[in-house]
Amino acid sequence: MRAFSADYLRRTREGLWESREALRDLELDTRRRALDIGCGTGELTRVLADETSGEVVGVDADRDLLTVATESVPVVAGDAHRLPFPDDSFDLVVCQALLINLPDPERAVREFARVSSDLVAAIEPDNSSVSVESTVSAESDLSRRARAAYVAGVDTNVALGGGGTREAFHAAGLDDVSTRTHHHAKTVEPPYSARELEAARRKATAGALTDRRETLVGPLAPDEYERLRADWREMGRTVVDQMRAGEYRRAEVVPFYVTTGRV
Ligand SMILES: C[S@@+](CC[C@H](N)C(=O)[O-])C[C@H]1O[C@@H](n2cnc3c(N)ncnc32)[C@H](O)[C@@H]1O
Repeated sequence: MRAFSADYLRRTREGLWESREALRDLELDTRRRALDIGCGTGELTRVLADETSGEVVGVDADRDLLTVATESVPVVAGDAHRLPFPDDSFDLVVCQALLINLPDPERAVREFARVSSDLVAAIEPDNSSVSVESTVSAESDLSRRARAAYVAGVDTNVALGGGGTREAFHAAGLDDVSTRTHHHAKTVEPPYSARELEAARRKATAGALTDRRETLVGPLAPDEYERLRADWREMGRTVVDQMRAGEYRRAEVVPFYVTTGRV
């Protein structure tokens, strides 16, 4: 199982549900009991709890992440493929960025359908379609190269998005399957936060590429990987310089897809 830090989840979910229009089909105002599977630190679970007067429970296999989620919502440790609940225990079963991390998403969706009496939903990104615009001219192309190699080298479908999720929903026997698109836009501009300054320093050391070496070497030959790291470090140093001058701006858009289906 891929591990995530609490800091990574907080950082990547910041502002994700500022607009909640794409959650409309979850009919949150009518829910009596909702389950968020693979809840991590509870980033989505808290949104669900905000929007419904019913009970909302989080489940995750990582007990360290649950220590954060449990500060705001009730949680249970468990595996998405063998949920510790009887049939029809919830009227909404939902996950966010979980299926992209599972080798067999359909198997998990079948289990979601078992414990739901009404609706199943999955909110999944397509990591192959992220766009980056930056005042550092090389950043957009380098991000695209690194992302393409990561998507090709990782052992689950991190580009699942709406199409792959719909396939898993149909294969699991869900009805009335439909999808809404939700774009998560993130910007960096002056004044920079401490977290943004730290992210720039990390770019200048190509830390993220070093952490992902095992995934990237394969899609990239070893010398291509080293070239990408060298170009990335140079790009990172320019980002740091532009930040010192208060000139750096970056805009990233991650497409998420909210798919729903009836049991
Ligand atoms: C990318 S994180 C998403 C966390 C949270 N849903 C969010 O969007 O912030 C994926 C989460 O799924 C959990 N996870 C992965 N495999 C799991 C499994 N088989 N059963 C339960 N949780 C799992 C991980 O521990 C992690 O918290």
